[in-house]
Amino acid sequence: MTILLVIALLTFSIAGTAGSTPDQPPDPYVPETGPFTQEQLINYARTYGTPLYVYDGNLIQQKLKRFRGAFEAQYPSVKVFYALKANTNMAIVSLLRNAGAECISLGEMQIAVRLGFRGEDMLFTSSAKTPEELRFAIEHGVTINLDSFGDLENLRKECESRGKRARISFRVNPDVDPHTHRFIATGHRFSKFGILLENDEIIRAYEVARACRWFEICGIQSHIGSQITELEPFERNARLLAEVVRKLRERLGIELRFVNLGGGLGIPYHDGQEVLTPERLAEGVCRVLKEELKGLPRLPALWLEPGRYLVGDSGVLLATVISVKDTPYRDFINVNTGFNHLVRPLLYDAYHRVRVLGRSADLKLYDVAGNICETGDILACDRLLPTPASGDIVAFLDAGAYGFSMASSYNSFDLPAEILVRGDKVDLIRRRGDLEELLRSQSLPEDLRR
Ligand code: LLP
Repeated sequence: MTILLVIALLTFSIAGTAGSTPDQPPDPYVPETGPFTQEQLINYARTYGTPLYVYDGNLIQQKLKRFRGAFEAQYPSVKVFYALKANTNMAIVSLLRNAGAECISLGEMQIAVRLGFRGEDMLFTSSAKTPEELRFAIEHGVTINLDSFGDLENLRKECESRGKRARISFRVNPDVDPHTHRFIATGHRFSKFGILLENDEIIRAYEVARACRWFEICGIQSHIGSQITELEPFERNARLLAEVVRKLRERLGIELRFVNLGGGLGIPYHDGQEVLTPERLAEGVCRVLKEELKGLPRLPALWLEPGRYLVGDSGVLLATVISVKDTPYRDFINVNTGFNHLVRPLLYDAYHRVRVLGRSADLKLYDVAGNICETGDILACDRLLPTPASGDIVAFLDAGAYGFSMASSYNSFDLPAEILVRGDKVDLIRRRGDLEELLRSQSLPEDLRR
């Protein structure tokens, strides 16, 4: 009896990851493969090998246009910044060059500058900015989004020692629950990000900043989380920020030039899933801002920082089936990639649709298992999939955001190659990693050589 219970619990806890749960039937198998046809994907895998990330560049640009258009239809002044962390490949970032760049690190700022972004079209948000990062941001005129009083003091020192002013905003922690996975909920009171509204902490931050001649106070920002599929948390965030904007004007005479609502708009990861659209998001938050800021002589501009929405559904990860393994308990499809290349299922219990290319028969419940030496390396769980043969190609859909950008070299596997498809044009935008790349920055002390 106890053994049965343990087995039942174990099955439940495994089945809960990256797939269906025992009380939910598995999703029916749909052969559709995102922006590409099955034939296209099979050809790419043949030409470039696997594991391979494939992106549809035209789709990325269409999504920027749609996102921006949705907000411009509702609000007089809108600026969109691409959150580079979602996908930092230079080609992808370049496709989004007519957006601004939202950066989290020196590396991301350097990539943006190298690709021709101007400082005034860049934002730097981090909760732990190093002196080197601050210096780079100051020198390039990047808007710096401050996260704490300590951050403010660090920036003041850097500005003073360089004799240069900096454009700033503050990141607010509005204590809003975005109803998403807890690792990607960023605006609740226990998160490490932003300055709380409680006890007017945020007003005090602006007061301190105003007293510092090195700062040009420009705006306010809050990013409440990622993969958000409901309107209400966004509206609540907008309302809370607008309240601060009004208070700052009334109490301190500070007029902010922008309100930055961050990123976070989710995408559908399941077949047939309906999620919030940019149009509904824009309609909702712009209505709130216009209502709440009605009395002001000038509406602040609306800034946004989408990442996933712009690049998520454009990307597919292709892998090769190594073997199929049936056991009395679970059946596995073993593939030549793993959580080193797509960590989202392991880290966030994320669901990525899986397709077995060129097959539709012998549907069976499978776990798709990676090649990493860890039990948690299951990329998809309890999925109804056609039975593949070894050598077949499988596609993980919606892998364009936080796919490659979170990849690692764990277990000394090569990093995947990446290709960019625009109509008939296909470009290799990252060659496959190799051993030399893996070892390039290591050195062997003399006495350990042989
Ligand atoms: N702005 C800031 C300050 C952010 O921290 C982020 C994402 C964004 C904008 C863009 O958010 P998006 O529109 O992409 O939701 N690795 C996780 C997501 C982490 C998001 C981190 N910050 C995942 O794979 O789901």
